[in-house]
Amino acid sequence: MKVGIVKEIKNNENRVAIIPASVKEFLAHGHEVYIECGAGLGSGFRDEEYAAAGAIMVEKAEDVWNKVDLLYKVKEILPSEYKYVRKDLIIMTYIHSNAHREETQVLLDAGCPSIALEDITSDNPHRRFPLVANMGELAGKGGFLAACYYAQSVHGGPGILLNNVIGSDAPIISIIGCGYTGMGAAELASSFGCTVRMMDLNFETMERAQGLLPDNVSFRYSSRAAIEDCLKDSDVIINCVLWPKTRKDHLIYREDLKTMKPGAMIIDVSCDDGGAVETCHSTTHDDPVYYEEGILHYAVDNIPSAFSKNASVRFSCDSLPFALAVADKGIKQALKDDKHLRDGLTTFDGKLTLRETAEKFGVEWANPEELIKEW
Ligand SMILES: NC(=O)c1ccc[n+]([C@@H]2O[C@H](COP(=O)([O-])OP(=O)(O)OC[C@H]3O[C@@H](n4cnc5c(N)ncnc54)[C@H](O)[C@@H]3O)[C@@H](O)[C@H]2O)c1
Repeated sequence: MKVGIVKEIKNNENRVAIIPASVKEFLAHGHEVYIECGAGLGSGFRDEEYAAAGAIMVEKAEDVWNKVDLLYKVKEILPSEYKYVRKDLIIMTYIHSNAHREETQVLLDAGCPSIALEDITSDNPHRRFPLVANMGELAGKGGFLAACYYAQSVHGGPGILLNNVIGSDAPIISIIGCGYTGMGAAELASSFGCTVRMMDLNFETMERAQGLLPDNVSFRYSSRAAIEDCLKDSDVIINCVLWPKTRKDHLIYREDLKTMKPGAMIIDVSCDDGGAVETCHSTTHDDPVYYEEGILHYAVDNIPSAFSKNASVRFSCDSLPFALAVADKGIKQALKDDKHLRDGLTTFDGKLTLRETAEKFGVEWANPEELIKEW
């Protein structure tokens, strides 16, 4: 199969879907890899490294899109790329279909098979979405580092180092959600010597987190009372909840911001617009923060891109087995053989196969389990 990788064009997206070591894997399986020149530069991988691994370097993105059978990338397909989507092109990327109706419609209209990497599952109950877990950990860590930056007086903050500094109380960091992102934030915040509080609804998750984190991390059931307490005395609130897209209430309301300490901040890693944090709207690395009721909000929606080399290595290694299976077996056989890959199937032959998106848009859902019976 001809496999293609293009340069990501989303604002400040520096990741790349493939690293040179993975190119060699595709070649070893008898495939050809076409890469747009400069695609890896944002992650520190030079064209020469890809060429040395055996990739065919291509000047223009459109020549990659038009030449290949499998287009393998990181972020969603943006409007300037819509024209390249065609029926016989397999697309594997983070699609986020329920947030991007226009993109989803383009995939449906073209009739192509598309796989959302974020929806691929695994049997490990602690890594149910392996291609989300890897980036979540980086996002949580990056969120805490952003708090360290904005807490400095020279960056408009209250002038505190988020560390246990002699003469000052250890800063209080409250993290809502003990999943992948919450654990990433907690790992750094606790190792910096902060007083860390984590909240979740799931006791099993909290027990597991407690076993992995040091003693300066405490755990509470995520009740309204616990959140109100944390709002009053925390230096940083980090929201790491996986928020149902259809939910209308919030965990932190605009009014709650008035109870926070001067200089306290909200790092919204989840960054769902009007989600768990009522006043949240997602931001970019170019313009990462804004203030509501005097409280700094940081809500960058692609934090891992700041750590692009780490992120690309993880992304490429974790997604490689799925991309290789599709290239080796063809899309139908690969989907038939692997329930976890099937869970990521978003569109096939003009049908919407991702249930959550179909429900959100109120359109007909085609069950992939039924589809494969016809093949
Ligand atoms: N900003 C970024 O760049 C970035 C990167 C990766 C992930 N994310 C986002 O971060 C969010 C969290 O991702 P994750 O991978 O950590 O999810 P996850 O499913 O691993 O963890 C979410 C946790 O939230 C808990 N939870 C649910 N409702 C809660 C409540 N009311 N109070 C407290 N805890 C609650 C769940 O029990 C779970 O443990 C997602 O929305 C994801 O899209 C953002």
